[in-house]
Amino acid sequence: MPSSTHTRIAPSLLSADFARLGEEVRDVVAAGADWIHLDVMDNHYVPNLTVGPLVCEALRPHTTAPIDVHLMVEPVDALVPAFAKAGANIITFHPEASRHPDRTLSLIRDAGCQAGLVFNPATPLNWMDHLMDKLDVVLLMSVNPGFGGQQFIPATLQKLRQARQRIDAWQSQGGHAIALEVDGGVKIDNIAEIRAAGADTFVAGSAIFAQEDYKYVIAAMRAEIARGEGTLIST
Ligand code: DX5
Ligand code: ZN
Repeated sequence: MPSSTHTRIAPSLLSADFARLGEEVRDVVAAGADWIHLDVMDNHYVPNLTVGPLVCEALRPHTTAPIDVHLMVEPVDALVPAFAKAGANIITFHPEASRHPDRTLSLIRDAGCQAGLVFNPATPLNWMDHLMDKLDVVLLMSVNPGFGGQQFIPATLQKLRQARQRIDAWQSQGGHAIALEVDGGVKIDNIAEIRAAGADTFVAGSAIFAQEDYKYVIAAMRAEIARGEGTLIST
């Protein structure tokens, strides 16, 4: 079974201009973004504070692109229906921040969203083992969560290969599709090797929003993703 060939670029609004977020969303989607990645931080699970469901709701009319809500919050469950109501399409959370990850995944799906688990660099993949049937997305952090603009941690590549193997094995046994997303320090110059390690969905904040020309960056990333496909090892 070949690794997923459907790839997506998900700009993280964390590095966008917060004074004009609606315009930023429209611009980056016009420049070719597939998903909009919204980082929700609570100054408890991570030492930073960003936005809540009100901002998601305010952004919803600005695009039809899926809004990918990355919850860096603890506890998780109370925010799930709030973000679903605010127009989120995908909701991911960190399993150690939920008392019952299985229940939280069900809560997300029952609210009509796709559900995913997020793995910090030191979080083992075996959280996946008994939850595959409820996962639509597996998100591997390639930095420690809390801030944009950090360096990609190279050990993520090996972890991506392991996650890819688990997902491909699941799908070859008739399981549903599960996206493999990576978040943190993704740039034009490393996205090919990240693709080659098996990721199919790429979050990028500073690499896109720090440049004037979003279209140029996204096109360059797509070209590099295609180059990485050439070295992708099917499992
Ligand atoms: C970090 C966030 C990331 C971050 C990525 O906690 O989850 O989404 O914004 O930013 P860059 O691409 O700048 O590393
Ligand atoms: Zn994120």
